[in-house]
Amino acid sequence: MEYDVKDIELAEHGKKRITWAERNMPVLRLIRERFEKEQPLKGINIGACLHVTTETANLAITLKAGGANLRVCASNPLSTQDDVASSLVKNNDIAVYAIKGEDTQTYYDHIHATLAHKPSITHDDGADLVSTLHAEYADRADEIWGSMEETTTGVIRLKALANQGKLLFPVFAVNDADTKHLFDNRYGTGQSTLDGIIRATNMLVAGKTVVIAGYGWCGRGFAMRARGHGGRVIITEVNNVKALEATMDGLQVLPMHEAAKIGDVFCTLTGNLNVLRTEHFDAMKNGAIVANAGHFNVEIDIPGLTEMAKTVNKQVKPFIDEYIMPDGRSIYLLADGRLVNLAVAEGHPACVMDMSFAIQALTAEYVVINQGRFENKVHDIPENIDMQVAKLKLETMGITIDTLTAEQINYLASWEMGT
Ligand code: ADE
Repeated sequence: MEYDVKDIELAEHGKKRITWAERNMPVLRLIRERFEKEQPLKGINIGACLHVTTETANLAITLKAGGANLRVCASNPLSTQDDVASSLVKNNDIAVYAIKGEDTQTYYDHIHATLAHKPSITHDDGADLVSTLHAEYADRADEIWGSMEETTTGVIRLKALANQGKLLFPVFAVNDADTKHLFDNRYGTGQSTLDGIIRATNMLVAGKTVVIAGYGWCGRGFAMRARGHGGRVIITEVNNVKALEATMDGLQVLPMHEAAKIGDVFCTLTGNLNVLRTEHFDAMKNGAIVANAGHFNVEIDIPGLTEMAKTVNKQVKPFIDEYIMPDGRSIYLLADGRLVNLAVAEGHPACVMDMSFAIQALTAEYVVINQGRFENKVHDIPENIDMQVAKLKLETMGITIDTLTAEQINYLASWEMGT
């Protein structure tokens, strides 16, 4: 089998961590047990471009249990857990192409190696695999039955492609399922972003002014957790409704040029580019910490920061670079502006990825069952998959809920009864 991982000897360590994550992925485990029996993906080539973590390993093992021939590559150069990549190769016979810290050329070589496998189904996180397919292998697009997209940024990119009339195969917006974004984006990103910043800096959040750019589900989750640690949270937004929500959630909303002057820690979660730029670095306090938890490393203008700096001290602590300004102030950039939760911490906890990856697995099965019946557009995940995942998750948590009485069902379906 071909593969490209950092060190195959890390496999045993990886296996233990994958098994640990599995303990907290009971929904995926149930799906895996069924897949083992029913083989819904038998003989199907799957290419997955995902963050190579213990949680993704459990998805990969589930897809393989369902009969798929799988290749996996990284969806970010810094998010790979090398021991996990090795374990998938050595212990599960899954071809993995991912090395933490790989350069851009290697990153794309790994995507090409995954596509060389001629997948019928793809799983993507950020749409780099699908956009490479469109840019370089358009003639092979009709071999793709469907592609699952994991993240907000990827869905935005794919909708842009679809709006230009250029999307060449059906795509399924896993991110937009309720059991994905309400939990993974909010509680997963919320906790793991704080975890990444704390692991890198070992800072005390209590009493710090934490400036959060973007109040989507990820920004909200991080704001909730930063506040829980005693941070004074400031939100910057470009959307009036979201800014209003942040205000009524009790948070201060400011434009970035004001927030820049008072923040101790800055984190971008917008999906947009140059959210923190030279005019903001100019205003920041000495010692300001700057991080990103959005999908791509474009939210912080790092070339601008580098150009402004008199000196750059790389790795003053693992994952921290110091930029010394001509006036003597230091600005600390975490993880090269790559997603701090995956580059420094371990990404979202398994408990929440359980739902996201259950949707990935069930949607792959749905694509196989309905192959050839989909339009080339960005599809929502079928509601019954969302509901099934929520139900299973509650069951595995031992939580039961009420059911409507016949009288209530009737009432909801009627209009006659009023005041
Ligand atoms: N995205 C965010 N956290 C993740 C994780 N733990 N595994 C895979 N993808 C992720």
